[in-house]
Order: sequence, then structure tokens, then C-alpha cells
Amino acid sequence: MKVLLIGATGTIGAATARALGGSHTVIPVSRSSDVQVDMTSAESIDHLYAEIGRVDAVVCAAGGAPFVGLTDATSDDFTTGFTNKLGGQINLVLRGLHHVNDGGSFTLITGVLAREPIATGSISSTVNGGLESFVVAAAAEMPRGIRINAVSPTVVEESMPKYGTFFPGFRPVPVTHVAEAFVRSVEGIDTGHTYRVGY
Ligand SMILES: NC(=O)c1ccc[n+]([C@@H]2O[C@H](COP(=O)([O-])OP(=O)(O)OC[C@H]3O[C@@H](n4cnc5c(N)ncnc54)[C@H](OP(=O)(O)O)[C@@H]3O)[C@@H](O)[C@H]2O)c1
Repeated sequence: MKVLLIGATGTIGAATARALGGSHTVIPVSRSSDVQVDMTSAESIDHLYAEIGRVDAVVCAAGGAPFVGLTDATSDDFTTGFTNKLGGQINLVLRGLHHVNDGGSFTLITGVLAREPIATGSISSTVNGGLESFVVAAAAEMPRGIRINAVSPTVVEESMPKYGTFFPGFRPVPVTHVAEAFVRSVEGIDTGHTYRVGY
């Protein structure tokens, strides 16, 4: 399969590229890779799809949202999260529909915060929950046998130096387990499913 992987240079994306790379032709994409996209820009996404042509799978391991305490959070903070991780991934689907082959798939990234709150995590929780609901609804309307799923990891072992203090008492999961969930989504038959990894 020809797999477009957004966020391929990141902690989760690089592991996913390794996991998929043995069996598939992976096109690694980020804002700084050879083939580039800024998924916060609809125009940039259109340019990406025009550049690479049709694919069998679109996998996203990118997107973020601000970590701000609820009493300090502004509407702009929420808008930033919506524009980036939520809107960016929804646009990858909306604008990619006509570039994915029959029977192909989309796999998005969400995260444990959709269900398990942490301090300063309300924007990420909202974004992740929205994405998981989008996946359920979009799966029901996907044309041509195209599937859509989400991967929802808890905090990743390899990211503990960066995020560990945000997740007190959470047991981290090896990034290879997250990559396996992406493989399962791309190669399996599920649709409308969120794969919880490590929780
Ligand atoms: N790490 C964890 O513990 C964990 C746990 C649960 C969920 N998640 C979620 O998993 C996703 C990836 O996390 P990560 O820790 O692997 O992130 P990361 O290491 O920071 O990597 C992010 C990747 O996305 C790319 N990227 C960032 N902004 C982009 C944009 N606007 N357009 C296109 N590409 C962009 C980055 O490359 P460039 O900078 O070159 O663009 C990089 O390849 C995030 O949505 C995160 O919320 C992470």
C-alpha cells in the first residue's frame, strides 16, 4: 500500500514509519520533510494531495493543543487547539477523500485525555473527544469502502522527559505499541473505531 504519514519525524510518527515501512511504501510528511505540509492550512493540505497523487492510506501522528489551566484559558487558546489538532486532521480527511483509493483508510491520532483528565489538559481533552466522535460519525458516511479510525495512546514512555510531569501516576506505554495500533488500523477491517493504547 501507498501510505501518507503526517508527523513522520515525531516520536509516534517515526515509530509508525518503521512499523509500516516493512510492508508498505510510506511517504513521510511534516512541515520540515522533503514533501511538506502544514496541516493547520487547508491550502497546504490541498497542495500536498495534489503533489503526491492517490494513496491507499492516510495516517496522522501530528497535531497539538495548548496546555493551560481552565481558569486561565482563553477562547483563543481553545481556537488554537481546534485549528491545529482537530481541524487539521478533519481537513486531512475532508480534502483527502477524493485522493484515497477504494477500500483505503484514514487513521487519526487522539489521546488518553479524551477520557482521563489532567490539570491544564481541558483543551486537549476537548479536541481528542471531538476527534473520536468525528471518527464514529464519518465512518458511517465514508464512500467507496474507505475506513476511518483513531489511535488514542496514553502518555508514551519515550515522551516522559517532555510530558511526564503532566501525567502523575500514569503508566507510560512503549511507542512501539502505539505504532502497532496504526498498523492494525491500516491493515485491518475496523472502521469508526478508536484504538486505546496503554489504558
Ligand atoms: N507523545 C505522547 O506521549 C502522546 C500521547 C498521546 C497522544 N499524543 C499525540 O500524538 C501526536 C504526536 O505526538 P508526538 O509526541 O509524537 O509529537 P512530536 O514528537 O512533537 O512530533 C510531532 C510531529 O508532527 C509534525 N508536525 C507538527 N505540527 C505539524 C503541522 N502543523 N503540520 C504537519 N506536521 C506537523 C512534526 O514535524 P515538524 O515539526 O517538522 O512539522 C513531527 O513530525 C500529538 O497529536 C499528540 O497529542 C502523544
